[in-house]
Amino acid sequence: MALLPLNLLINHDGRSARQRITCRYRCGDACSHPAPNTSDNAYFGDLVREAMSRRSALKAAGVAVLAVGAGSALAACGGAETKPTAQSTATTSAPPPAPPAGMNFAAVAPNIEDAVVVPKDYQQAVVISWGDPVLPGAPAFDVTKQNAAAQRQQFGFNNDFAGLLPIDGSPGHYLLVVNHEYTTERFMYPGYNEKQPTRDQFETSVAAHGLSVVEVERTPEGLKPVLGRYNRRITADSPFTLVGPAAGSEFVKTAADPGGRTVSGTVNNCSGGVTPWGTVLSGEENFNSYFGSAEGAKAPTPIDADRWKRYGIKLKPSERLWETFEPRFDPTKTPNEVNRFGYVVELNPWDPQSVPVKHSAMGRFKHEAANIYVTPDGTVVAYSGDDERFDYMYKFVSAKQIQPGRDGAAMAHNMTILDEGTLYVAKLSTDIPANQIDGSGTLPADGSFRGSGTWLPLLRTGSDGAADSLVDGMTAQEVAVFTRFAADKAGATKMDRPEDFEANPTSGKVYVALTNNDERGAPGKAAADAPNPRNDNKNGQILEITDDHAGTSFTWDLLLVCGDPAAADTYYGGFDKSKVSPISCPDNLAFDKHGNLWISTDGNALDSNDGLFAVALDGPNRGETRQFLTVPIGAETCGPIVLDDLVTVSVQHPGEHDDNSIDDPLSNWPEGGNGTARPSVVAVWKPSGNIGV
Ligand code: FEO
Ligand code: CA
Ligand code: CA
Repeated sequence: MALLPLNLLINHDGRSARQRITCRYRCGDACSHPAPNTSDNAYFGDLVREAMSRRSALKAAGVAVLAVGAGSALAACGGAETKPTAQSTATTSAPPPAPPAGMNFAAVAPNIEDAVVVPKDYQQAVVISWGDPVLPGAPAFDVTKQNAAAQRQQFGFNNDFAGLLPIDGSPGHYLLVVNHEYTTERFMYPGYNEKQPTRDQFETSVAAHGLSVVEVERTPEGLKPVLGRYNRRITADSPFTLVGPAAGSEFVKTAADPGGRTVSGTVNNCSGGVTPWGTVLSGEENFNSYFGSAEGAKAPTPIDADRWKRYGIKLKPSERLWETFEPRFDPTKTPNEVNRFGYVVELNPWDPQSVPVKHSAMGRFKHEAANIYVTPDGTVVAYSGDDERFDYMYKFVSAKQIQPGRDGAAMAHNMTILDEGTLYVAKLSTDIPANQIDGSGTLPADGSFRGSGTWLPLLRTGSDGAADSLVDGMTAQEVAVFTRFAADKAGATKMDRPEDFEANPTSGKVYVALTNNDERGAPGKAAADAPNPRNDNKNGQILEITDDHAGTSFTWDLLLVCGDPAAADTYYGGFDKSKVSPISCPDNLAFDKHGNLWISTDGNALDSNDGLFAVALDGPNRGETRQFLTVPIGAETCGPIVLDDLVTVSVQHPGEHDDNSIDDPLSNWPEGGNGTARPSVVAVWKPSGNIGV
């Protein structure tokens, strides 16, 4: 197969493969600034840090990829430092085991196509795209006639998490609930002037955020939207009820909401989860990037300055300049408004009039998502990562138990489960000798990175938001609103960007995607440790936790240390690395009914488009990784759902590249030709049978 030039995907600043434009709009340029966790709480292991001159090969111009099937490796990756090790020579003369049920498909090769590429014998179709009608009467998408009134009735921008909820009594019909994480105005509005956005553009962008609820119908052509009675749009100015210890506290009251219980809108909703009681959770992630002020403005108090720094709030003009249209987005004018974002949001999609809530008992940080495991007695355990370099992993254990059913009383009870319970943060440890963790990713002598851990309690919440702080020197309200400080004080373990957390419904083991951390081991920063074993970690890893779910102890190991399978610093669960698809920058997780883990990627640092992968977890196939699809150039793969007969993914920001815009596009997906690149949900299926069998 041909060698493809990959200059288009060369990294900015030598950091992750994610484009700088994505960082500016999605996370307020977080990856161009030092990580905000400067706490000196210990990371375990007193480690020898060695100078690493690694992965420079990837930055070389003209990098090419050798596109082959399963077992493909990136020709230019890691060659200079590749040396024979137990991992890199793990090939065997015996034939590899047959792929497990659910993974029997021809792996998609790495590529930089402007297309969704799926396995041979599979079909695909767009389900819904940015601008498509969600509510009856919504106009069809017209890139030249965008306005807030239309956008409020249409599918929002940059779809991320997606949940699919079967509609009782309507076989083949589902509610598709989707997050719209962020807007990238340069890729939305022709002729956009980023120094002077118009009020119409501001209001349209507000309407392009939030969530969509769309009824969809399974057809032989995938999933088709229906203008059903549950359809709804939530935006960055829809009303929300703040509940839990933060509600009504001095930290969240504003002139517009003197009671501190009614918040206008949600922003930067990244990933999420479907609850067992039929609602949807959504994580408010990089909310800080929506707030800004005039250059040189000062925080009113040193405490405000500290808090804003730890949460990445910057006193300078924001990327979208929303603060020039609404003073609530200027912290120097409305200081408490920032404290009303950064929560887990819960939406009951079955009642179009319901007011969604923000659960402050689960803490305030850059929630990637929240995903639930239910113990045999009905206790709910909600796991959530704080997606920032060197930030933490959390769980919330409910004090109440789930009530069965979805009638009004059961729903009312279950929607308060995440308001009463205990919030914990994770501290990891290991007995691997420190001299075996050198930051190179080389496996320890016993063949895997593993250890144990403890959940450290931060906050115990009772009924009506009454709460006890479990952290010395902080009130319960402070822990709920400034949770990162509480976790710093408790001594949590600094992780490599904890993204999605998902419990395997088959085994109960919990998996965490740790995307990357290019500051690991940098001067003044925490060095590699056993769960984050590489300095300058560009490719991320998958953590596997065996948790005492409602308890406080766990054991852990690394399932994958991602990156070029041919490089010495990668580990694919002990599977023969010559037989896997290369995976980099894991982000969102899902399971199929067979118990295989599915991983979508964000920012593939191996100079190929992002994709969706299936990973075997058990037996001789453990660690076998096969790429199921790739998304178009410049896009990120989000929100995977894996059903027996259908897979869906959210294709976020197709064509997003530093040198491009809607006026000079890199992508024309999905329409092709001269079409506008539009974030879209895509369905994939196999006409002749179920997925992967
Ligand atoms: Fe929005 Fe953590 O990715
Ligand atoms: Ca994510
Ligand atoms: Ca992501």
